[in-house]
Amino acid sequence: VNKNTHWSECSRQRRDFLRLGAVSGLGLALGKVNLRTSVAADNPETSLGPPSVPPIDPVRIGFVGVGSMGNDHLNSLLRIEGVEIRAVCDIVEARVARVQEMIVKAGQPKPKGYSGGERDFERLCRQEDIDLVFTATPWEWHAPVCLAAMANGKHAAAEVPLAATLEECWQLVETAEKTGRHCVMMENCCYDRTELMILNMVRKGLLGELLHAECGYLHDTRALLLSGASRGAWRLAHAVKRNGDLYPTHGLGPVAQCMNINRGNQFVRLASMGSQSRGLTLFAEKRFGPDSPQTRQPYALSDVVTTLIQTAAGQTITVNYNTSSPRPYSREILVQGTQGIVRKYPEEKIYIEGRTKGDDWEPLAAYRAEYEHPLWKAVAERAKGAGHGGTDFIENLRLIQCLRTGSATDWDVYDAAAWSAVLGLSEKSIAGGSAVVDFPDFTHGRWKDRLPLRIVPA
Ligand SMILES: NC(=O)c1ccc[n+]([C@@H]2O[C@H](COP(=O)([O-])OP(=O)(O)OC[C@H]3O[C@@H](n4cnc5c(N)ncnc54)[C@H](O)[C@@H]3O)[C@@H](O)[C@H]2O)c1
Repeated sequence: VNKNTHWSECSRQRRDFLRLGAVSGLGLALGKVNLRTSVAADNPETSLGPPSVPPIDPVRIGFVGVGSMGNDHLNSLLRIEGVEIRAVCDIVEARVARVQEMIVKAGQPKPKGYSGGERDFERLCRQEDIDLVFTATPWEWHAPVCLAAMANGKHAAAEVPLAATLEECWQLVETAEKTGRHCVMMENCCYDRTELMILNMVRKGLLGELLHAECGYLHDTRALLLSGASRGAWRLAHAVKRNGDLYPTHGLGPVAQCMNINRGNQFVRLASMGSQSRGLTLFAEKRFGPDSPQTRQPYALSDVVTTLIQTAAGQTITVNYNTSSPRPYSREILVQGTQGIVRKYPEEKIYIEGRTKGDDWEPLAAYRAEYEHPLWKAVAERAKGAGHGGTDFIENLRLIQCLRTGSATDWDVYDAAAWSAVLGLSEKSIAGGSAVVDFPDFTHGRWKDRLPLRIVPA
């Protein structure tokens, strides 16, 4: 592809998309695409994202945002061979000092510290002896940090969601393409033991052709949001202003990997609806009284946001978001195929035609010996004690392995953009009266030729 033609075409599509708001009832035509709904387990390579980069060893990291999740990542990274933490940045100086001490205790030289305000990460991004800038800051800082990292020749990794707006999704895709740097979203749920086992089942054809999936993020975060702590305050600020699915990737990422999104398949369109907004106000009233500022504050965010996505292969996905209601935690995770169905919550169950006896669910555990993902078989012991049941160790291990070997990362900027785009698109849909909204094609058509994620060993 002629680079200039490619770039002007990308920019035109982007401008058109933003101008038209991509609200349409028509969507893309289905069919006529070479869909790979089931693939061999031994695909040689995963992604045709940014050009392959030479192996980096050791991987020298600058870390931005060392609150709860930042600490979690550092604990994992310090257990992985070939990692050096060269710089740490946080707006809270005491957190930088604590992490510097932790890194020295782990046997590494004291990393450089940055705590000179909200944009001090820009100085960190200019530090020469850094290969990867990794951020676990509030959502609104992910894109600015990743953009500054790539502009300075560094690879970028960010917590979920990668981007808070559609505009940021495009900026990140364009910058990753222009600079040839990796820009990876750290979606730990893609490495969860059950989600990876389901992926392995899908790849082996156990469920047949996939038809439908259900997923979401259902987590009662009222106490955290209204705690007054900074961890809750930045999340609350989004709930005050925005109405959409603000945290879609924990459920959608694993489902997208089963459906080969951006790798022979694509999200085509969505429509979202939001319920009334009650939960935060009722909670605040009980905790702080009817006249408290927290009770009087209007909240834009619906208590329940339901999104329906259609893929190019014709599949449907429901994505549910509910962070303001009393309920147990769930990411749902249900996958229906032509030969059976599997679900994770509230209990791990499966039904496979011709194999399950009777017409009731059977425990998923009965399939573990046959379908456990090889990654988990290989590293479950090493992952013990790491955050989120070991998944945080495994996701970091995979990122570092890919960088040290110069391989494509499991997930790239196109995946991160497509999954994160649900924030902006669901807002747009709700604001437009549950209008059907088209997904932008961040890959510019290349999704048709990209190979599905292979079942990586260890
Ligand atoms: N993958 C998961 O399971 C998971 C779990 C929790 C949180 N997260 C994600 O991790 C990110 C952080 O969440 P958290 O719970 O750790 O929040 P947190 O508030 O505990 O941590 C954020 C940190 O970033 C710092 N910070 C804020 N603005 C900054 C800036 N401009 N420059 C440098 N530092 C800055 C804060 O001082 C704080 O230390 C969020 O994106 C969240 O969605 C993911």
